[in-house]
Amino acid sequence: MADIKELITYFREEAKREREYSKRLEETASKSHNIMLKTLMKAVSLDSLKHALIYEALADLLENPRLVTEQESEEIIKEIERHIEEEREAIEELNKLLKDERIKGNSAAVFLIELMLRDENFHHALLRKLHDAVVKPLVFSESDYWEAVWRDAIWHGAPGG
Ligand SMILES: [Fe+2]
Ligand SMILES: [Fe+2]
Repeated sequence: MADIKELITYFREEAKREREYSKRLEETASKSHNIMLKTLMKAVSLDSLKHALIYEALADLLENPRLVTEQESEEIIKEIERHIEEEREAIEELNKLLKDERIKGNSAAVFLIELMLRDENFHHALLRKLHDAVVKPLVFSESDYWEAVWRDAIWHGAPGG
């Protein structure tokens, strides 16, 4: 049990570190005048904030493993369905933009669109799996479930895939 407590403390400290790092990245971004540098630094800053949330979830999960089997309401299931559709539409729009002649020759613009496309593909695959999981409760605690999520997300998350 002592080992678990040590790990929980470690995750809480990592969460704090990611939050502080996120703030420093944001400060650097706000001083920059280069649009690519400013935007991408800010994007990494937001990712660090995301990592802080994930470290906090890891700590909470180890503290209370039953949290993973909490049931979701009908309302949330319906909302996830809408979000899946929104992600799908975003993927379609971004793929259209990549074929646009006005974008094609601009490598910085292509880079930004592909960056979003990677995220949206991942979001779409992830939300679909989460939807399956809340419709069929308890799956969150199954050992092979997260491996399938990972495989699915990587596959769909490949650039342009
Ligand atoms: Fe990170
Ligand atoms: Fe998204």
